[in-house]
Amino acid sequence: MRIGVLTGGGDCPGLNAVIRAIVRKGVPQYKFEFVGFRDGWRGPLEGLTMTLDIPAVRGILPRGGTILGSSRTNPFSVDRGVERIQETLMNKGVDALIAIGGEDTLGVATKLHDLGVHVIGVPKTIDNDLSGTDYTFGFDTAVGIATEAIDRLHTTAESHHRALIVEVMGRHAGWIALHSGLASGANVILIPEIPFDIEKVCDWVNSRFRTEYAPIIVVAEGATPKDGTMALVTGEKDAFGHERLGGIGEALAKEIEERTGKEARTTVLGHVQRGGTPSSRDRWMATRFGLHAIDAVHDGDWGKMVALRGAEVVRVPLSEATEKLKTVDPALYAEAEVFFG
Ligand code: F6P
Repeated sequence: MRIGVLTGGGDCPGLNAVIRAIVRKGVPQYKFEFVGFRDGWRGPLEGLTMTLDIPAVRGILPRGGTILGSSRTNPFSVDRGVERIQETLMNKGVDALIAIGGEDTLGVATKLHDLGVHVIGVPKTIDNDLSGTDYTFGFDTAVGIATEAIDRLHTTAESHHRALIVEVMGRHAGWIALHSGLASGANVILIPEIPFDIEKVCDWVNSRFRTEYAPIIVVAEGATPKDGTMALVTGEKDAFGHERLGGIGEALAKEIEERTGKEARTTVLGHVQRGGTPSSRDRWMATRFGLHAIDAVHDGDWGKMVALRGAEVVRVPLSEATEKLKTVDPALYAEAEVFFG
């Protein structure tokens, strides 16, 4: 059997660990052959491939990014996209695909499965917002990077008596903001799920200054104020129709300065959260996902995604994973509020 492997969407620490595990089990145990498709769905769309054998995956376990490359190409918004993918699979003798990705990449995988393509999905995203799995790999690394950055910002904020705002990733879900904010003792955490009241934020900032400490505000890039007017978007959209975000941190700093009279500065962590070596937990999870994905291929259990439930790796229907995003429960957010201000 010949299997194509691709990584789509924003990259994520742990992708190479999945690829390595798939090949390291698939070749000796099941005698499978692999084809690496380059740059997400662009690979099968345009027939862009690379060799994917055991020598190709040597030494990649701790490496960030993806040796296959990635893109946000959406074959369903391209002329004859699906037919072209089916032609490539036929021409290259590929019997099945393993798609490693987030909501968009796995959304395409779900539709292709419905059209009869043999697909298995592996969930990845630093945002941790995919349903069907307790966690996605990449999230732990991103939270670790954000936590270290916030720890460092505490000391400089206090030296200069400034409010420091840290903008972290999270377009629709505030998982990174909530986990890193709680882990690093942030004084305010703002997430997309719960529109914030700027008056309340300024109260927390002032109360923190009154205790002679400097406030740290962690804001997810997708957070918005209650009246919905402060988020800055460029208006640019990707192939899946997502707006490119960024700017809520700066907008908050300006607003806080005007309302409190205190100096406020913003640090945007951006792609630093996605780059570099995966944490050991992410390597562990990604490796197990790869091992279980190749078992699913061997079993012909098409249309499934491997998922973490507790400490078990299970298979769930791809459709379950992509139906709706996993967002932060307000009750979980409320737990963190005890530390605000
Ligand atoms: O989907 C993961 C993510 O990290 C989001 O939090 C963020 O909005 C997006 O990727 C940005 O990715 P890019 O800059 O590659 O479009």
